[in-house]
Amino acid sequence: MRVGIYPGSFDPVTYGHRDIIQRASRLVDQLYVAVASNPYKQPFFEIPERIQMLEKCFEGTRNVIFDHFNGLLVTYAKEKGATVIFKGLRAFSDFENEFRMALANRELAPEVETVFLMTSHQYAYLSSSLVKEIVSLGGNLKGMVPPFVEKKLKNYIKNRRGKKF
Ligand code: PNS
Repeated sequence: MRVGIYPGSFDPVTYGHRDIIQRASRLVDQLYVAVASNPYKQPFFEIPERIQMLEKCFEGTRNVIFDHFNGLLVTYAKEKGATVIFKGLRAFSDFENEFRMALANRELAPEVETVFLMTSHQYAYLSSSLVKEIVSLGGNLKGMVPPFVEKKLKNYIKNRRGKKF
């Protein structure tokens, strides 16, 4: 059985993530979508909430498991028996950081391959940070996130004004 991991912050899930999850899930038997707890970032949403949003986007999907991990990605990948890490690539700006992480992960675990999926063109600009900026400044997120995620973001902004992203 071929197992893959798609890691990320997913704070919150966007249509760009959804696209990568759909495509990655066709390439493996089991895909773990793994929410990272990154101590260096100040998230809008706690990990269980981020997982709930992901699950809601993928109700009825057969081979995708939503989970979270602490620590090194490759340690988590090995625990799950994964041989592939999927990453989405958008613009050139993603490349340097992703290249660095892929090389570091290969050094740590040569048996785990990183596979980059090129973004679908309509999501090339899209990121969770951008979505948070737009909603913080009163914009709408049509075509960027599912309507229930937009609602959650707007509630968050209403209740917690002033928080950085
Ligand atoms: O959605 P993001 O914030 O771009 O995801 C980044 C993530 C979670 C994939 C990355 O920070 C990560 O792999 N974190 C786990 C810690 C780790 O393994 N670090 C060494 C890899 S270079």
